Amino acid sequence: MEQFIFETERLGIRRFSPSDSEEFAQILTDPEVCYFEPSGVFPREKALAVAAKLAQDKRFFAVVLKENNFLIGKLFFEDKDFFGAYEIGYTFNRSYWGKGYALESVKGMFRYAFEKMNVRRIIAEVDIKNTRSVDLLERAGMRREGVFKKSAAFRKNSLGEPDFSDFASYAILKDEFNIRS
Ligand SMILES: CC(C)(COP(=O)(O)OP(=O)(O)OC[C@H]1O[C@@H](n2cnc3c(N)ncnc32)[C@H](O)[C@@H]1OP(=O)(O)O)[C@@H](O)C(=O)NCCC(=O)NCCS
Repeated sequence: MEQFIFETERLGIRRFSPSDSEEFAQILTDPEVCYFEPSGVFPREKALAVAAKLAQDKRFFAVVLKENNFLIGKLFFEDKDFFGAYEIGYTFNRSYWGKGYALESVKGMFRYAFEKMNVRRIIAEVDIKNTRSVDLLERAGMRREGVFKKSAAFRKNSLGEPDFSDFASYAILKDEFNIRS
């Protein structure tokens, strides 16, 4: 029986375990999944090691399908040490995109955080070219608070120079979540 931290209709959210390595490596070795991730794509051996490391890191949560316990994604939820603010992030196996799973897990994390963890404000930062992620944040009820022009570069352009992107900052407050849900 899985020990979930919280559940949604279709998903269970729990800590990572070293036995997740194979399923998690499918995510980290996919160039399309990792395109907008600061860490980039991982070679298989490194991806297997990362999964084991996440089991020790309280900022990461495994998202599994309740119907078969398959690991389809990861949530990141970090205390910003700033007046009850946390940052959320997510990465899902590409075979499970387009089914509303990421959104369901993010909303579940909002509920868990606001109701059980005494969180006050949740933020997210996204490259505005990452349209799937932007759509998810807006569907989850987050507000765009600003856009930081050419603020970071996680890739190089064809000339080998840093490829700077505009990053949008999103947030949702506990009160806003309560009103909408
Ligand atoms: C960002 C990411 C998690 C979004 O995944 P996603 O599956 O598109 O997001 P959602 O869970 O919101 O699913 C929405 C899609 O599911 C569809 N859907 C199907 N059933 C649904 C349901 N029951 N409820 C809601 N949406 C549903 C929606 O219509 C929508 O489809 P569309 O994309 O064709 O419009 C995913 O693209 C990813 O892992 N990207 C790589 C990592 C990354 O970039 N992370 C963010 C860094 S800031």
